[in-house]
Order: sequence, then structure tokens, then C-alpha cells
Amino acid sequence: MKASPLRIGVLGCAGIAWRRMLPAITANPDVTLTAVASRSETKARRFTDRFGGEPVVGYERLLERADVDAVYVPLPALLHGDWIDRALRAGKHVLSEKPLAATLKQATALVDLARERGLVLLESFMFLTHSQHTRVRELIADGVIGELRSLTAEFAFPQKSADDIRYLPDVGGGALTDIGVYPVRTALLYLGSQLDVLGASLHYDEALGVDLGGAALIGRADGVTAHLTWGMEHSYRSRYALWGSSGHISAHWAYTPPPTHSPVLRIERQDRVEELTLPAEDQFGNVVAAFVARVVDGVPSSLEGESVLTQAALVDRVRERALVRP
Ligand SMILES: NC(=O)c1ccc[n+]([C@@H]2O[C@H](COP(=O)([O-])OP(=O)(O)OC[C@H]3O[C@@H](n4cnc5c(N)ncnc54)[C@H](OP(=O)(O)O)[C@@H]3O)[C@@H](O)[C@H]2O)c1
Repeated sequence: MKASPLRIGVLGCAGIAWRRMLPAITANPDVTLTAVASRSETKARRFTDRFGGEPVVGYERLLERADVDAVYVPLPALLHGDWIDRALRAGKHVLSEKPLAATLKQATALVDLARERGLVLLESFMFLTHSQHTRVRELIADGVIGELRSLTAEFAFPQKSADDIRYLPDVGGGALTDIGVYPVRTALLYLGSQLDVLGASLHYDEALGVDLGGAALIGRADGVTAHLTWGMEHSYRSRYALWGSSGHISAHWAYTPPPTHSPVLRIERQDRVEELTLPAEDQFGNVVAAFVARVVDGVPSSLEGESVLTQAALVDRVRERALVRP
């Protein structure tokens, strides 16, 4: 039994907070939403009218509040590092939208700071908490596809409105930062951390100053490869597949299944094709529960399977190796 709910404040009235994370936060009885900060009072009030808590103008003002134990940071990707740093220095636990930081150097500094201060710092890579991926891992461990030979992972969405944060080079930072991190994380999840970037390509828009999509070939010393593709100028796709010596498993709607969606795993073998329909799950609710468990109960999070630092290092290497084409 917990003594009192974890008091959470939110930095920024982001679309993802409105659509997915605040419904999950307010549904969790172990959390209280204390305050929502925005650069605009009108926006903050719109959020608190729906979800509760007090509207606050300015993120710094929220960090000064004694009635906030933890913050959720759904700011544009390139602002995460600075505001996570300020939140940790203000003594708050942090749940940050992905990616936690723009570079390995920044991610390392933040992880070190959280450790020094004894605070929880969790990257909200919500897909990792969905049990459909646990099921895939079990199937592989049971030998359903034989020995793993390769992986493909694809995540892309169509062009967004021209003022979207992702097109701002110093704010959202482009496609690799925003969406390429999902396929990269998938490679780490299934192939482990000892990976080399064998080649990469980024489609760079000179006028905007950001990359709009890309691909990478990543490999392990034993020859197992991952071919990753991402973008924000494509038709929607959110899937990955693992190909082994005797079968193939694919996960459809792998990264952003709504809470009502029952995921389907397709298993293809020499003599049969099967589809496993799994229970629907709210992966945002899972992230909130994992965060609360870490803060309140000191329970290690299931999100720690693959380190945020390994991911940041791999993203850095993709960027360094990439052939940039207009
Ligand atoms: N986990 C997921 O499934 C998922 C899905 C989508 C996005 N995300 C991540 O969540 C974050 C937010 O994405 P989003 O699509 O929700 O963004 P969004 O709707 O544009 O919201 C970002 C918020 O950041 C604040 N902000 C502060 N400085 C800003 C600036 N210079 N320009 C624009 N906004 C600024 C704004 O809040 P105020 O105006 O209230 O201050 C804005 O509402 C990103 O890191 C993204 O990668 C995660």
C-alpha cells in the first residue's frame, strides 16, 4: 500500500500529452496531476480544465513548486536535455519523451546527474512496455524461427503541417531524432548491444535544414543484420520482422498501437502460417506504472533491458556514417 500518490507536473502542452500520456497519468490511482506548465496561460488552462491540476505559466515556475515530486517532459526533442537537467537540479524525478537526449554526450551527463542526485530518470519509450514484444522474444527463445539471421524495422508517417516541431532544426531536430530512434531501439532489443553501423543514408532537406527520412544497415559480429527504415514523408508504417533459419515473425502496428488494439503476430514457416492475436494493452499506462514503481517502490523498470546510452551511441554512429543526400 502506497502512502500517498506521486505528484506529477507537466512541462509543455504537447499533442502527445493531450492524446495519450495525460489520459494514462490521470487513470493511474498512484499518481496525482498537480500542475501543467505552458508558455501560454490559455494552453495550460485548456489542459487543466480537462485533466485537473493547476495551470502554470513558464516551465521554471513549475520546477520551483514544492508540491511536484516528478515531471513529465513532452517538449520537442532538442529541448529535452536542457529541461531534464533543470528538473533534476530542482530535485524532481523525470519521465521524458523519447529521445531522452540528442547525443550520447548529453544522455551520459543526464544519466550521471540523475544517479548523483538519487532521482529516477526514465525515457518514455512506451513501445518497449507492450507485452507483444515480450511474446516475440519468447517465441524466438522457443526456437520458433530457428537461428536469427536478420531483422527489418520500419516506422514512418506522412508529411505533417509545415509548422510542426519536427521540421525545426534546433527544436524537433528531424526524422532520425524523432522517429528513426524506434527502429534503432528495435535492433538493440533483438540483436543486443554489440552492433556496428555498416552503412546509412539520410534524406536531408536543404531548405528546412533537417533530415526527412533515412535508412541504416546495422550488423553484429556473427553476421546477423538489421535493416532499418524511417521517415516523415512516407505512407504510414509501423512494423518489424525477424527472419530466422526456419521461420519468420512479423509484428504489425508495432510502435503505436492504441490501447484498444489487439496486436497480431504473424509466424511463417515452411509448411504453415499462423497468426497470434494478443490482448490489447495501453502502453502509455504501462510506462506510467513503470515510472511510479521506480519512484515509489524502488522497483527496477522493465524499460532498462537495453540502455538509453547504448541507443544514443548507436544514433550518433548512424549520423556519423550516413551518406547525406538532398
Ligand atoms: N511516445 C510517443 O508515442 C510519442 C508520440 C509523439 C511524440 N512524441 C514525442 O513527444 C515530444 C512532443 O511531440 P508532440 O508531437 O506532442 O509535440 P507538440 O504537440 O508540438 O508539443 C510540443 C510542446 O512543447 C512546447 N514547446 C516549448 N518550446 C517550444 C518551441 N520552441 N516550439 C514548439 N513547441 C515548444 C509547447 O508547449 P507550450 O506551448 O505549452 O509551452 C508544445 O506544445 C517529442 O519529443 C516527440 O518525439 C512521442
